[in-house]
Amino acid sequence: MRPGSGSGAGPTDVTDPGQLRQIFGSFATGITVVTVGGDAPHGMTANSFASVSLDPPLVLVCVADDALMHKVLEAADHFGISILAAGQDQVARHFSDGSRPQGLRQFDAVRWRPGPATGAPLIDDALAHLECAMWRRYDGGDHTIFLGEVVRMRRRPDQDALLFAGGRYARLAPHRREAVA
Ligand SMILES: Cc1cc2nc3c(=O)[nH]c(=O)nc-3n(C[C@H](O)[C@H](O)[C@H](O)COP(=O)(O)O)c2cc1C
Repeated sequence: MRPGSGSGAGPTDVTDPGQLRQIFGSFATGITVVTVGGDAPHGMTANSFASVSLDPPLVLVCVADDALMHKVLEAADHFGISILAAGQDQVARHFSDGSRPQGLRQFDAVRWRPGPATGAPLIDDALAHLECAMWRRYDGGDHTIFLGEVVRMRRRPDQDALLFAGGRYARLAPHRREAVA
């Protein structure tokens, strides 16, 4: 096949944050809530979560330098990740809302419990919980990449993930649940 001219859309401007956001946001993801416990408990919705390594078991999350969560993670030894289940979009909206209460009170809006290994708040009914020890922090431009070593994890069977694509929350259509080879 010869190279074609594509589907018609022209190149976009990489210096335009709006266009970058639109193209980055076209990559479909799951949704997590990253949490830290202890004296300064905090939670933040994040879709930049990714698995990194099996041995050692590592995951990452990218956090904007101007987020409060950034300051909290800079000082944290541990953090928690709740991978949200389909139907938990209100939880995602809450922990991305800049006007939510600060500290422990922000967790009044959800059911949660402290992680047995780290004390990080874990959201009830999430698809999976990961408790992590801080592994490394890397410069990621206007974000920082936080890597955590998974020290404890738990998954609820038979749940679908909450999805996020093109700026919208979504769930798998029932007839699309079969794995694609
Ligand atoms: C679907 C979704 C995904 C998000 N993912 C991230 C992310 O991966 N990293 C990030 O820094 N902010 C992300 N945000 C934005 C933060 O959740 C939001 O700015 C939050 O209010 C920051 O909280 P904080 O400043 O109180 O820590 C996301 C927001 C939404 C709605």
